[in-house]
Amino acid sequence: MQRFKTEAKMYTSKRIKGDIYYVGVNDRKTERFENMWPIPRGVSYNSYLIMDEKVALIDTVEISFVEQYLKKIETVLKGRSIDYLVVDHIEPDHGGSIRMIKNRFPDITIVGNKKTFDMLDGFFSMECNKLEIKEGDSLTLGKNELQFYTAPMVHWPEVMVTYNATEKVLFSADAFGTWGTLDGGIFDTDINLDHIWDEMRRYYSNIVGKYGSPVQKALSKLSGLDIEVICSTHGPIWTTDIPKVVGKYDTWSKYEPEESGVVIAYGSMYGNTEEMAETIANAISENGVKNIVMHDVSKSHASYIISDIWKYNGLIIGSPTYSNQLFPLVQALLDKIKIRGVKQRVFSYFGSYAWSGATHKHFQQFAEEMKWDVVGIPVEEKLRMNDEKLQECLSLGAAMAEKIKSV
Ligand code: FEO
Repeated sequence: MQRFKTEAKMYTSKRIKGDIYYVGVNDRKTERFENMWPIPRGVSYNSYLIMDEKVALIDTVEISFVEQYLKKIETVLKGRSIDYLVVDHIEPDHGGSIRMIKNRFPDITIVGNKKTFDMLDGFFSMECNKLEIKEGDSLTLGKNELQFYTAPMVHWPEVMVTYNATEKVLFSADAFGTWGTLDGGIFDTDINLDHIWDEMRRYYSNIVGKYGSPVQKALSKLSGLDIEVICSTHGPIWTTDIPKVVGKYDTWSKYEPEESGVVIAYGSMYGNTEEMAETIANAISENGVKNIVMHDVSKSHASYIISDIWKYNGLIIGSPTYSNQLFPLVQALLDKIKIRGVKQRVFSYFGSYAWSGATHKHFQQFAEEMKWDVVGIPVEEKLRMNDEKLQECLSLGAAMAEKIKSV
């Protein structure tokens, strides 16, 4: 059964439900999201049109795609205009085309909250019709009634979500989004989701991960709504997988690991610290743990390490001493973990030095700041592995394996 109508013109548009159409675009050109995070599978910037007596556009797209975007919109509008632009999130990957939409539809009314308009003025300094909404306000388009709920810090302070009470569709801004383009299908039911879950966690942990408490508040607020479809600003339209997606957000925002396993992240200039990492990993394996993920911080982008730290309950970090500090990329990883306030991880560490060791001091301070207990006896070696340090690494691995199996 064909659930949506594909309309052939320059670009196709897809009907989601009732009067709601998908008019988003795919970005396969950008190397790094926010100019930081690698997106080898690209990203979609999702936008939606509601074609009722009044026409509403939900969010826009990144400015580089505005020409394609306007053509997609025109395909659905068939000569009509747009009455409202609802700005759920003004970050430029979604707010980037607001000015062009205003230029194309000069009488449009922009719908947002007070914080939205503070940012709109800052970004665009443009005269426009404004409808400032407050928590729980609604807007009737004809058949479709839109209700607005603020969701501050999921992921910016002005974020709100729009609930179409008529169709039971939630426009959720960044929430429940993921990296990865929509290659043909747009619904979760039409896509092979195998790669999506890892990318969704990587997106969540790196982009939204710091804001666990606001996400919990938003989930609580939305729990009373009857939601049949979730339309995020990135990634698939969620229909059948809504319980799984909401469950993952609940787990992640509580900083609860998904599985028992150990991430070993290390820096190593000449292989000696890496040898410690390998020895510890072998000991963990010998003690019955299958989920062991190793990252050389000089090769793995930190976004993948952070995502794995979100997934597993055990974490061991290793570093050589470098200018009396930690290896710079290890320190950068610790900073990312600290900023995100990761909780409840079983932690230990190891290090090496050539003439003066400093890693234990820095790792211990990090563990105290994170309020994490340290498992086993951390190891620090001078210059290279010897029999004593080998045994210490084996003991550390065994202690970690025993601990993660018990929590
Ligand atoms: Fe997809 Fe927070 O922007």
